[in-house]
Amino acid sequence: MARRPILVANWKMNLGRSDEALAFFRKIRSGLNEIKGVDLVICPPTTVLHQFAELLAPTRIALGAQNAHWEEQGAHTGEISPVMLAGVCQYVILGHSERRATGSNQETDEAINRKLKAALTHGLTPILCLGENLEQNRAGQTDAFVSGQVRAAFQDVEASLAASCIIAYEPIWAIGTGESASPADANRVIGLSVRGALAEIYGEDVAQQVRVQYGGSVTPENISAFMAMPEVDGALVGGASLKPQFVELARRAAAD
Ligand code: 13P
Repeated sequence: MARRPILVANWKMNLGRSDEALAFFRKIRSGLNEIKGVDLVICPPTTVLHQFAELLAPTRIALGAQNAHWEEQGAHTGEISPVMLAGVCQYVILGHSERRATGSNQETDEAINRKLKAALTHGLTPILCLGENLEQNRAGQTDAFVSGQVRAAFQDVEASLAASCIIAYEPIWAIGTGESASPADANRVIGLSVRGALAEIYGEDVAQQVRVQYGGSVTPENISAFMAMPEVDGALVGGASLKPQFVELARRAAAD
């Protein structure tokens, strides 16, 4: 089955001031807008989401948030609910390792499952992040860990909704380190552990529909090698999405 590739820029906690975000966007806008053959999504900080909803409306580029709570409203200081995002953006990153139990927000698998279901209920497309740390990788636990993360995230999610989700396999040791996984390893983990777990839960049809990205030190230099892998449907890009060369990266992602 041909899955359309998708490239997502995760700006993390950068370019969150309106003037700097706009200045950078002006540098990449026309270049990105010419690119066909790959879905493009920018996930800027929450502070500029509304501004980007307007900026991106006339372009081919979609908008995503970097997090959402599972509740619709209430006493959750500093959180953002899926209701607040619906109508502003189309995508939301969930379960990034920088927010999971390993990161700064202590998010558990259970919390991520609740967030995924809430996002889907409100019409947002989740970009679910998962991946093993260095210790797990070295101990040969990658496949068991990653498939466990898939099972936990999709608990009680119905098949038609699961099929619409994006998953990003991001080994923690590859994030921001300049040391990406090898394309062959990423391909193997995505095929075996991510799609394998999806197939166990939902069957092969759904497993083949879900778009799965690789993330972790993706650059203009290595993107083509990842895109050439049959299981890799795109990339979730951090650091390299903050540079004008992101346009070249996107061109190469579309070329394959
Ligand atoms: P880098 O591309 O900076 O390694 O970040 C990857 C990432 O965490 C994207 O979500």
